[in-house]
Amino acid sequence: MHDLDASYAGKKVLITGGLGFIGSTLAHRLVAAGAEVAVLGALLPDGGGNPHNIEAIRDRVTVRIGDVRDRAVLEETIPGVEVLFNLAGTLSHTDSMKDPWTDLDINGRAQLGLLEVCRARNPGVKVVFAGTRAQYGRARYLPVDEQHPLVAADANGIAKTAGEAYHFLYHAHYGLRATSLRISNTYGPRHQMRHPRQGVFGWFVRQALDDAPLLVFGDGRQVRDAVYVDDVVEALCRAGASEAADGEAFNLGASPVALVEFAEAVVRAAGRGRVELRPYPESSRRVEVGDYVADTSKIRQRLGWRPAVSLEEGLARTVAFYERERAHYW
Ligand SMILES: NC(=O)c1ccc[n+]([C@@H]2O[C@H](COP(=O)([O-])OP(=O)(O)OC[C@H]3O[C@@H](n4cnc5c(N)ncnc54)[C@H](O)[C@@H]3O)[C@@H](O)[C@H]2O)c1
Repeated sequence: MHDLDASYAGKKVLITGGLGFIGSTLAHRLVAAGAEVAVLGALLPDGGGNPHNIEAIRDRVTVRIGDVRDRAVLEETIPGVEVLFNLAGTLSHTDSMKDPWTDLDINGRAQLGLLEVCRARNPGVKVVFAGTRAQYGRARYLPVDEQHPLVAADANGIAKTAGEAYHFLYHAHYGLRATSLRISNTYGPRHQMRHPRQGVFGWFVRQALDDAPLLVFGDGRQVRDAVYVDDVVEALCRAGASEAADGEAFNLGASPVALVEFAEAVVRAAGRGRVELRPYPESSRRVEVGDYVADTSKIRQRLGWRPAVSLEEGLARTVAFYERERAHYW
């Protein structure tokens, strides 16, 4: 990690989506490494952006409230940046089916706009894109490696696939340095807690802390590959600092776990709540992709990344965070 600190010290870094869950955690990490950090976020109503996420580092971060769909905002923020962590995006599978246009606008069209500004105004920038396991859709085999077909099963996965493909097009065509991390279900502090549509992991934590039932759909045996947010941030930092990552996509995942087992682990960590099985609501059943386990050997071999935080440890840290900071998230 010391090498990584050295490679970010004094670097000009921009994090789009930097007020959100993963982006703000990355901002904390990069400020600690001595980077010059700017965050850009739109604070969209249902998104995870929360100014409190960066409260502790507010005096060491430049904050720009703006939308990545707005070219003027990009023209203003991208020139001079050395590493651009491109995390602004939506991730709700069900919302993306209700409003596929907005999802495509942000995860697809705006990505092209961002890359155009990079090409025209800052061609030497390194861009790290937040891709998703949703790009793979229903797994044809497990664990899923990066060669698995990209056959997304919802509008969000399709738009993210397009967004990622534009990054690799600009790499191949213009030599723009771009990397994508296909992130699986991430949990940890600073996730929004107002609704369950950005992932059930955070919602389980809220239900447990409220001493409410944790509602698991179906038989709860569907497997997700849980990864703690600090481990995602470590991977983002490694990708941003590595020339070997240019033009490459990498899977991320850490702890394959059945949803019902994850929920039970949350109840143990919180010391309250209870797990209850429920039939799938129709909107969730339609976007359910079945088991997902990431093959992470590529990022382990090429970037030396490996997850450092176990599920038990990650959940203990998450619960402790929300016990303390609840007022800012509920
Ligand atoms: N959390 C996960 O489990 C997960 C899994 C796979 C991929 N990802 C991807 O990682 C990225 C970060 O996710 P997160 O969990 O931190 O979500 P988040 O909602 O907490 O953060 C995303 C941020 O982007 C901002 N944003 C969205 N659209 C924007 C726009 N048009 N202009 C400017 N800002 C905009 C939101 O307001 C929010 O603050 C997303 O691109 C997401 O698709 C997350």
